[in-house]
Amino acid sequence: DLPTRVRIHEVGARDGLQNEKATVPTQVKARFIHRLADAGLTTIEATSFVHPKWVPQLADAEQLFPMVADLPVALPVLVPNERGLDRALALGARRVAVFASATESFAKANLNRTVDEALAMFEPVVARAKTDAVHVRGYLSMCFGDPWEGGVPIAQVVRVCRALLDMGCDELSLGDTIGVATPGHVVALLAALDEAGVPPATLAVHFHDTYGQALANTLAALQQGVTTIDASAGGLGGCPYAKSATGNLATEDLVWMLRGLGIDTGIDLGRLVATSAWMAAHLGRPSPSRTVRALSHE
Ligand code: HMG
Ligand code: MG
Repeated sequence: DLPTRVRIHEVGARDGLQNEKATVPTQVKARFIHRLADAGLTTIEATSFVHPKWVPQLADAEQLFPMVADLPVALPVLVPNERGLDRALALGARRVAVFASATESFAKANLNRTVDEALAMFEPVVARAKTDAVHVRGYLSMCFGDPWEGGVPIAQVVRVCRALLDMGCDELSLGDTIGVATPGHVVALLAALDEAGVPPATLAVHFHDTYGQALANTLAALQQGVTTIDASAGGLGGCPYAKSATGNLATEDLVWMLRGLGIDTGIDLGRLVATSAWMAAHLGRPSPSRTVRALSHE
């Protein structure tokens, strides 16, 4: 059975741009987010309040956020710690995301912490956000495979998911950071999570398309009852702290599939494709999205 409604969590402006070497001007990022909203996206991850040395591309979060804050869409932002939360709250952010790892190697590379030290760092962040009725997403990276450790045991993923949920996260996003998941693995993980009291309704899936499996994995997750799907306009993306991570599932590819399945998203595909083609021109290379290439005439 497939859901009748799907919520797309657009990550192009954050996950999509964070790995770009050349600094994208703040004005261009703001325009990108405005165009995504015009195309009908309703949840647009805007930026990260992380250490600027760790992700230089997003060092302009303080300048960017006020330029998009008035849009009538949800604008989640990443915050790794209380310092990040302070910065986000000072600008009026109403949705934040902490980002944990299922593996020790990535926790170290991405957060300079062990898995449990990172969870301890998030605890006061989530508690304070909840006090302010701020919505909290908990990302979990390396749910399927890790570039240093190889395959990731399902039990390891379940443990950290439970910890994030027990901490008070409203929603969890299962990250296939390096794009190695396949549909059978997705079904097995979702079943194990459900059994551990983490039902599909609390979950989002976050696929990267390294091996061309993102759409197949998404369909598998939809069939298991997941209704929030992360995607990146034009398939932009990658993680600076994960070797071999390529772009996310392209939002256009997702919308095309959902349309064919009769699942309405309210997104204007023509406007979205034009936005991604415009961003690709700005970045100086074509979008990797098959749907963008098929539908764009630039
Ligand atoms: P650290 O070096 O351990 O930091 O980094 P610290 O806690 O020791 O603090 C050192 C200094 O940084 C201090 O300043 C802090 O104030 C400052 P000093 O006293 O030395 O002058 N500082 C900050 N400044 C601004 N904003 C902050 C902040 N925090 C500390 N928030 C830290 C630890 C977590 C800060 C660092 O590792 C970091 O910023 N990491 C972010 C990495 C990142 O953003 N990765 C990409 C996102 S995750 C992802 O892409 C995966 C995802 O898409 C899902 C998937 O695909 O799997 C979500
Ligand atoms: Mg990602």
